[in-house]
Order: sequence, then structure tokens, then C-alpha cells
Amino acid sequence: MLRDRSIHCYDDARRIAKRRLPWMVFDYIDGAAGSGHGEAAGRAALRDTPLQPRILNGVEHRSLTTTLFRKETALPFGIAPMGMCNLTSPHADRWLAKLAAKHRIPVGVSTVASTSLEQMIDWSGGHAWFQLYVSSSTDGPGPLVSRAQAAGYETLVLTVDVPEVGRRPRELRRGFKMPFRMGPRQVFDFACHPGWSIPQLIHGKPEMGNFGGKHGAFDRTSSRAGANWDMLAKMRDDWSGNLVVKGVLSPEDARKLQSLGVDAIQVSSHGGRQLDGAIAPAYALPAIRTAVGPDMPLFFDSGLRSGEDIVKAYALGADFAFLGRPFSYAIAADGARGLDALTEVLRDEVSITLAQLGLRDINDVNEAALAQP
Ligand SMILES: Cc1cc2nc3c(=O)[nH]c(=O)nc-3n(C[C@H](O)[C@H](O)[C@H](O)COP(=O)(O)O)c2cc1C
Repeated sequence: MLRDRSIHCYDDARRIAKRRLPWMVFDYIDGAAGSGHGEAAGRAALRDTPLQPRILNGVEHRSLTTTLFRKETALPFGIAPMGMCNLTSPHADRWLAKLAAKHRIPVGVSTVASTSLEQMIDWSGGHAWFQLYVSSSTDGPGPLVSRAQAAGYETLVLTVDVPEVGRRPRELRRGFKMPFRMGPRQVFDFACHPGWSIPQLIHGKPEMGNFGGKHGAFDRTSSRAGANWDMLAKMRDDWSGNLVVKGVLSPEDARKLQSLGVDAIQVSSHGGRQLDGAIAPAYALPAIRTAVGPDMPLFFDSGLRSGEDIVKAYALGADFAFLGRPFSYAIAADGARGLDALTEVLRDEVSITLAQLGLRDINDVNEAALAQP
């Protein structure tokens, strides 16, 4: 029997993805640090942030466009960098890049993306942002930064919240490795999910697209604990494009980044994948906005699951929002159609939320949209 794959909200995408993906892949995407409490608390903080409806404001025309580094985006949200997206489908990276091109929104290209950074910027029509992990061996721009520069990247996203890879019990239990290895458990898992396994068999298992051959290997679990402020200052000197620092939850760190001349700060808990007990990003954001003042570009990710959540991020102080897992689930649920469907859902939800708040423009969302209980 053919099952309904239509997506009317984020929960539909996740539910269908859970059914279709091998347990190992679902737990890699869905999993979080420790008990998963921090990931859930991040979502709960957003859920528990109340909005203030306003009435009779004549809101029949509404705009969702905004500006990022002097370029207009058609939507107020983008795609967060995620490693190995092609684990959901052999075409996932291409679909994400094309989505970015269609809506003129950023698509984050992870250091451990399953497609090369050169291919991704091409598919995305220049809308790709390259995400870099700093390590103690980063001395000078490094080969990946040089490649990003040569490929025409304008924006570098430096992820700083992974000094060590967080322990994520759900992926450890499933024996997830990158690149992944097949044992009897995985063979059984994949055999139970033929809708996923057959296309993956035809296309070959996903690899780390930025490595291999002359580009060497990458050890995902190696320590990056040597990264420090001097490195960041050097990176700022070496990279003349836009520099975004991702994974910031402290107002003090944010002020320091601002003084070092970074172009934007991404408030994020890595989707709860790093520190189980970390402050919910939605609680950290207002204090960081206060610390850096009104003009510093602040981006937000972690736990956004709906258009209402996206509007809440703006109300709490963000200038742009990113989502990770929801896009992967949409692809796992129904491929490119699922990705388009979820994007339309999010767009619709943002627009309807603006109407409910009596607002016509996403750029007019500020703390006045929050209710004071
Ligand atoms: C499967 C997966 C892989 C990820 N890989 C990376 C990565 O390689 N680099 C990075 O900076 N962030 C990575 N992230 C974190 C995302 O960029 C983002 O911070 C997070 O997914 C946002 O939370 P959300 O999934 O709740 O929307 C990853 C997240 C997931 C779910």
C-alpha cells in the first residue's frame, strides 16, 4: 500500500523520515549530546516564548525578504551546514543547493559535506557559504580556505563549538562512523529499509566530498581543542570575505568577536549536539543582542521547527535564521518534493505569523512581538 508522504508541518517530515531512514542514519541526524535534554530544552525554550498577537493593522500585503551581507534573500531563513547530507538521499546536496539558488538563501557547506565545496557553489549559483572547523593545526589559511577562496566563496563560517566532538549516545549505539563501515548490524538495518538502500546502492555510499585523493583524509573525531583567539585573529586577517563565527552562547565571547572584526555571529548550540547542559540558545540570544548592540549581524539556529519559531528568533534579536534537521527530514521523507513542500510550509507559517502579529515585514519584527506574561 502506498503511504501518504505529504508534509503539512515539520512533524510530518520527521515522522515519515523516521519510517524511511535506516535506524543508524536517523539516529545520526536526530541524535544529540548526552541524554538529549539540552536539545529538547532548546526547542522548549522557543515553544515557551510567547508572541503578542495584534489586531486590525491592515496586513494583507506582507514581505518576507531580507538582506544578508548586502544581498536580498527571498526567505528569512537558510540551510545550516550539515555533514554528510547525502546519507538521506544520494541527491540531497544538489537539492539543497538548488533550493538555495531558487530562493536566494544561504546553504551551508560543511567541511564534512558529502559533495565538494567547488560543486556546491556551482549548483547553488553562488549562494553557498563554506563552513570550516578550526583545529590546532590550522596555521595560515589552510588548504580548505584557499580552495573556498579560489571557488568564489564570499562567506566563511567558522564553527567554534566543537573543541571535541560531543558524545552522542544514539549514534554511538548504532555504530555510526564517518566514512561509515558496514557490519552485520548495518546490513540488517539497511535491508529493513530498501527504499533508502536501493538508491544508495546504485549511487555508491556517500563519501566526504572535500577529502580523498590529493585532498587527503579527515578524522571527524580528532580534537580541535587547541583552537584559540589568536587563531581567530589570524583567520580574520587572512580571510577578506565575510566571516561568520558559529556556535556562540556567551555575551562576553560575542563582544570579543565583535571587537576582533567578525562580520556576523551565529548563536547556536549546534542543535544540542555538543553540550547537553548548555543554555538554550533562545535564552542566550537576547543577552547577546544587548551585549553587541543593535547593528551587529546576529544569526540564530538550533531547534527552529516552524515559521512561528523563526519569527520568535527575530523577535529575540536575530537578523537571520537557519535550520538543520528539518531540511534533512524533508528530503528523507519525499526527496526534492519533500524539500519544496517543507520550505513552502515554513514560508507560509512565517507569513501567517506576521499577519497574526499585525506586521507586514519580517524586518519589522522586534522584541515588541513578544508578550510579557
Ligand atoms: C546531521 C547533522 C550534521 C551537522 N554537521 C555540522 C557540521 O558539519 N558543521 C557545523 O558547523 N554544524 C553542523 N551541524 C549543526 C547545524 O549546522 C546546526 O547548528 C543545527 O543543525 C541546528 O539545529 P537544528 O538541527 O535543530 O535546526 C550538524 C547538524 C546535524 C543535525
